Amino acid sequence: MKVSVVGAGNVGASCAEYIALNRIASEVVILDIKENFAEGKALDLMQTATLNKFNTKISGSTNDYAKTANSDVVVITSGIPRKPGMTREELIGINAGIVKGVTSNVLKHSPNAIIIVVSNPMDTMTYLALKDSKIPKNRIIGMGGILDSSRFKCYLSMALNAPASDISGTVIGGHGDTTMIPLTRLATWNGVPVSNFLAEDVLKKVAADTMVGGATLTGMLGTSAWYAPGASVAALVDSILNDQKKIHPCCVALDGEYGQKDICLGVPVIIGKNGWEKIVDYKLTTDEQAAFNKSAEAVRNMNNVLAEIKA
Ligand code: NAI
Ligand code: 2OP
Repeated sequence: MKVSVVGAGNVGASCAEYIALNRIASEVVILDIKENFAEGKALDLMQTATLNKFNTKISGSTNDYAKTANSDVVVITSGIPRKPGMTREELIGINAGIVKGVTSNVLKHSPNAIIIVVSNPMDTMTYLALKDSKIPKNRIIGMGGILDSSRFKCYLSMALNAPASDISGTVIGGHGDTTMIPLTRLATWNGVPVSNFLAEDVLKKVAADTMVGGATLTGMLGTSAWYAPGASVAALVDSILNDQKKIHPCCVALDGEYGQKDICLGVPVIIGKNGWEKIVDYKLTTDEQAAFNKSAEAVRNMNNVLAEIKA
């Protein structure tokens, strides 16, 4: 199984590392426009192989898309990351051009690949990749909800003083500070609603911390995070390559599901060898649906910017 990762920066390299560490694919190709950068990252990672006991072959290339040929999955992390104080949306002008070019190049060499879009603003970049490539919608998946849910579960576990592995929780909607929706009602500690353990104000703080989870790290690190984003992509790749049929919240094309059309937005989906295979209906309450509609409106406004900049 072959995975190509376009963008050898923080998230791309971290995702390649987790794919190798977790023995998810036999081959990973990393590509970047910066001369020798992907080659350097790949070589550094390969020098961990004997220490970490993995057999994945990781190689790098400076913009030679032929090296990505016949990939089963392509991950797009190329673009610029958010700087402190910068919103994901401000990235749109630059990253739209990059994502469009990269999508077209990878499909020339891997016409059947499943594409995972990471570059921000991710919901809009996923929509752009879908519209531009015209490949079947099930093969385009935006990664954001898995990461946001992982942050949600992390904050819940800290508030509960419980192991994170005991917590389940999902974040749907857009991958933006004001557009994501942590579904507190459905979060559990080993099947028991977290509201049985935590007061309303604590739950509100957990949700608020989750929503600014990425921005908090950007403020601390001076650039956006990479460990949890890389691990989130690797989990998604695992579910695809090993046909796991896991439910993950992902940004996918909606055609009436959750009351929305002509948009890519985060909803729970079953992920398997065909990409996203089915949208799962969580039967939102009236308030949750209203929040989802608001999120869709914000993402749609961002998508409209694509037309303005003719991306
Ligand atoms: P980074 O700056 O460390 O890496 C980006 C890499 O892309 C650079 O090495 C750059 O040379 C390369 N690149 C730029 N244009 C390219 C092109 N046309 N072809 C090939 N490579 C190209 O950035 P980082 O931290 O890895 O973030 C990457 C993107 O992912 C950003 O847009 C960031 O906002 C986004 N992100 C999204 C997350 C999500 O949950 N969806 C989470 C974290 C980051
Ligand atoms: C994150 O959530 C910035 O999207 C990036 O860390």
